[in-house]
Amino acid sequence: MSKQTLKFPKGFLWGAAGSAYQTEGNNTNSDWWNWEKSLQRVEQLKKDGKNPKDYFSGLACDSYNRYEEDFTLAEHLGHSATRLGIEWARIEPKEGEYSENELDHYEKVLQSAKFHGLKTFVTLHHYTLPIWFFKKGGFEKKQNIVHFTAYAQKVVQRLSEYVDFWVTINEPELYAGQSYMVGRFPPQKKSLYLTWKVVNHLITAHKVVADYIHNNYPKPVSMAYNLLDLQPSGFLGETVVRFLRYFANEYILQRTIDTCDYIGVNYYFHHHVSFLGLRKHSVHSHELTDRGWGIHPEGIEQVLLSLKKFKKPLYILENGLADKKDVRRENYIKDHLYYVHKAITQGADVKAYLYWSLLDNFEWEEGFGPRFGLIEIDREDFLRRKVRYSALEYAKICKSNSLEYLVINK
Ligand code: BGC
Repeated sequence: MSKQTLKFPKGFLWGAAGSAYQTEGNNTNSDWWNWEKSLQRVEQLKKDGKNPKDYFSGLACDSYNRYEEDFTLAEHLGHSATRLGIEWARIEPKEGEYSENELDHYEKVLQSAKFHGLKTFVTLHHYTLPIWFFKKGGFEKKQNIVHFTAYAQKVVQRLSEYVDFWVTINEPELYAGQSYMVGRFPPQKKSLYLTWKVVNHLITAHKVVADYIHNNYPKPVSMAYNLLDLQPSGFLGETVVRFLRYFANEYILQRTIDTCDYIGVNYYFHHHVSFLGLRKHSVHSHELTDRGWGIHPEGIEQVLLSLKKFKKPLYILENGLADKKDVRRENYIKDHLYYVHKAITQGADVKAYLYWSLLDNFEWEEGFGPRFGLIEIDREDFLRRKVRYSALEYAKICKSNSLEYLVINK
């Protein structure tokens, strides 16, 4: 057992992430807003013994109005970067009608982030769609891609000066899978064919937007890729792992990497893979988060090392856990950072770590139950922000650009 001080590279960015729909509140023109309130969804929740009210995004964290307070807290916590999203449905509530007021709003938000000394990572698409676009068939239809790219261009023209890093699309594989394969997100379809189509349309959309940015308002661009640590288990596991790694992690990456200046990494999941397929992390007796996800910090090292071959800088745009009582978050962050540091010492060019998330926010189909935030949102007390203990521990790391870590047989 030994205590080590692990220094991170000079200029390393520290912070936390969020998305527009999950934090802003009142995104009444988005597809999720309708879906949350749909009869079918409400009936299903009731059938499952749940209170539908806990599953309406409503005011979310009210960050639409309280962004200044949120950035002030982030600054006090030693953050040097923030990740936030733009809600397409606000910018273009009706097809072809762009709202100057909302563009002004995001300009103020980004100016405030800058005022608080934060580098900005700005996401253009994070799961949600304007209702009109959803009704047209969303990304299922090739001819719809142009609507997204037109919106993205408008935003880039207007906001580029405040954006340090663009994130075109968050987790295309996860979005397509949840919406078109397992049917958990709207439009709750279950079709491999549509999943495949949507993934490929998102790839095209990303490329058009990335080219536009590079040619007109040059700034670093990437997607945020949800990357899994897949490890073989038992007979023929290695063969299956290679196949799954390709489809889960590499298919989209390989098709988009030429248009990316960096790789945006979201890491949450680790799976053991046998000949028969995926086995849940939990069966391997990892500690679990409140969402029942196994905690496996070693996996982030594997994921980062696997990306070295692309020879691009790596920015961790999401990594975090649901932990309402804040009993695991401090160690979760420190353990993951230990392995991030280990990857860096082996040549992975990691330049940022953004914890998911800054605030307890709207966790999609799980509503407000799971609490990922460094900062608690008290829903009984006017969404009061309460800084968690783990946020203060994380702040020490951010401020010193180093991690004090007790290494036990590692
Ligand atoms: C998504 C977030 C989500 C988080 C936790 C990520 O994959 O980008 O929107 O809240 O996972 O589930």
